[in-house]
Amino acid sequence: MDKKEYYRKIPKINNTSITKSLSFLDKKYVWHPYTQMQNWNKQDNAIITHGEGFYLVSENGKKYLDGIANMWCSVWGYSSNPVIEAIRRQFQELPHSTLFGLGNKPSILLATKLLKLAKGMNKIFYSDNGSTAMEVALKIAVQYWKNKQFPKKNRLLSLENGYHGDTIATMSIGYVDRYFNPYKSLLIRTYRAPAPSSFENDLYNVLTDSEIVDICLEKTENILQKNSKHIAGLVMESGAQIAGGVSIYPKNYQKRISELCKKYDVLLILDEIATGFGRLGNMIEYLSQSSKPDIVCYGKALNGGYFPIAVTLTTDEIYNKFLGEYDENKQLFHGHTFTGHPAGCAACIVNLEMYEKRNLIQQIRDNSKHIKKRLKVLEDYKSVHKIRHKGLLVGVELAREYKMSPVKRKKQSLSFIDGVDLSNYIMKESLKRGVLLRSLGNIVTLIPPLAMPRNQLDILIDTIFDIIKAIDEK
Ligand SMILES: Cc1ncc(COP(=O)(O)O)c(C=O)c1O
Repeated sequence: MDKKEYYRKIPKINNTSITKSLSFLDKKYVWHPYTQMQNWNKQDNAIITHGEGFYLVSENGKKYLDGIANMWCSVWGYSSNPVIEAIRRQFQELPHSTLFGLGNKPSILLATKLLKLAKGMNKIFYSDNGSTAMEVALKIAVQYWKNKQFPKKNRLLSLENGYHGDTIATMSIGYVDRYFNPYKSLLIRTYRAPAPSSFENDLYNVLTDSEIVDICLEKTENILQKNSKHIAGLVMESGAQIAGGVSIYPKNYQKRISELCKKYDVLLILDEIATGFGRLGNMIEYLSQSSKPDIVCYGKALNGGYFPIAVTLTTDEIYNKFLGEYDENKQLFHGHTFTGHPAGCAACIVNLEMYEKRNLIQQIRDNSKHIKKRLKVLEDYKSVHKIRHKGLLVGVELAREYKMSPVKRKKQSLSFIDGVDLSNYIMKESLKRGVLLRSLGNIVTLIPPLAMPRNQLDILIDTIFDIIKAIDEK
């Protein structure tokens, strides 16, 4: 079938309810995530109708350059490309077929592709978002020990400032009081060890990276020494904690945690949902960290950012403990309606092929060097406390020094500007400048689509300079 014929076969959706223009009232029906709707309903919010390259375009025609990779997942931007084409093609061939009792081709092909990349992993379980991929990981870890006749190894050890999603179990392992306090009664009890961020996020931190690693390791080992007979797995983000304050792990931290897990017979469960497939300049982050997970999760960039799909990978050692007769009840009791969605799997396959064809990881590394050079300028800005950067992940920590007395000075995080919290401030100021940026607490982040060309990365960096300069002058 030639291209013209192919497009003729796709039904047009013009003049349907999807394309009709919106009234002011229509816009008030949607409840937005992490949003105070009382404020939202008073604002004139950008309603995005389409994309052009790496720009999102609103209903009134204003263009915004994407500096957040659509919540850290976009790779190739918004214009037509082979991944979108693969989704279209797959929808025409087989729009959905369940993995309950049946197989489908794209889910098998993706498994073979992914398991070649994720060295040491042997099996894949599909779900449809990062939080549920992590839930699956936790269920696998706990049931592994139960099936192995160690039912008391049923609790989890996680890191301070970790983030793994918003479902009940993932809130439990990534507990942040400010966000999750209302749901506390629903959460499970977990052990919690300090992470490098526990020290780095302190404005007065004077410890070196290697001192921070030693302290974290010592405290983690203490917990494992006392409690490993109750701990099924240690859960952590791989390479960096992003939501918990853009904290990039110091050298050897993850490697040594991995060694500790082996020493105390505790599974290492890595979350590469935000850091896998290029964000930190590596395809598979745990390999570059010389760590050996027993379970690892991917989502976000895995499919280019076009389809809700995520995966939990594990080893044969773990998988084999789930084998037995039906009435032994050793099987994994987990499944979603859209598990292994053929169009999502097709998107991932073509996305990963494009990484190879376009040598994306090398492009990310080259752009990362460029960004590093450009960010140096920020060292002279008076509101900038620290710059955190690896690959295409940037966090600019804002703080200011105040004179308490002629001899005494105090540093304070800049989490509010003109009485508005930094996150809303940065969003508004960036949108005004035709760019989409966000912040986390007092950290302005730059998390662009992974294939964004250098001239557009420069626009994002210039905008950050401009906004922080304006903050300096306040
Ligand atoms: C490290 C990490 N894990 C898990 C998740 C949850 O993924 P999702 O939002 O797809 O549920 C996120 C989301 O930002 C994340 O950054």
